Amino acid sequence: MTRSDRARKVAGALLLALAVLAATALGAEEPRQAAPLITPPRRTERLQRGKALYAYYCAACHGPRGDGRGSNAEFLAKAPRDFTDAAYMATRSADDLRRVITEGGPGAGLSYLMPAWGRTLRPYQIEDLIAYLRSFAAGGASAKRENHVAPETPPGPSLR
Ligand code: HEC
Repeated sequence: MTRSDRARKVAGALLLALAVLAATALGAEEPRQAAPLITPPRRTERLQRGKALYAYYCAACHGPRGDGRGSNAEFLAKAPRDFTDAAYMATRSADDLRRVITEGGPGAGLSYLMPAWGRTLRPYQIEDLIAYLRSFAAGGASAKRENHVAPETPPGPSLR
């Protein structure tokens, strides 16, 4: 290899390194979502999914704000649970909520007016909902503020 060959190779390698650096620098300027400060991403995603599911399946009875005042509530003989009642919700374990949601009211000694969702929703979706229900009593930062509009198609995988 001659001297000039080597020089050319070195120059080529330098150019390549520069190109890679430039590409990385450009990439870094793309807008990125701000990293959540307190809530780890997985929980945020869970709440987002839970929120969409809630708007579609639950809000008509339990109310967009989780206070039990959905548009359907006045037609029910039994008032839908008010999830903003922190004292009551603190008495319910995750297992309790999971059972009611999966099996419906009768599965947990409650009213049949609370439907069973175990054949409609996947287990992970029920966990998403539980996380979201909890957020109502926790001040509902994610739950209360925004406008809930039920999506026209069911969120998540299509129904079985
Ligand atoms: C048709 C109206 C209706 C819909 C839709 C509905 N619920 Fe309910 N739900 C009720 C009623 C009524 C009760 C109160 C039952 C009772 O106290 O006997 C209730 C109670 C509950 C409870 C309280 C259980 C407890 O321990 O007190 C949970 C949790 C719950 N619903 C979750 C959900 C979720 C999640 C959805 C959506 C996937 C949903 N509900 C959709 C009517 C509804």
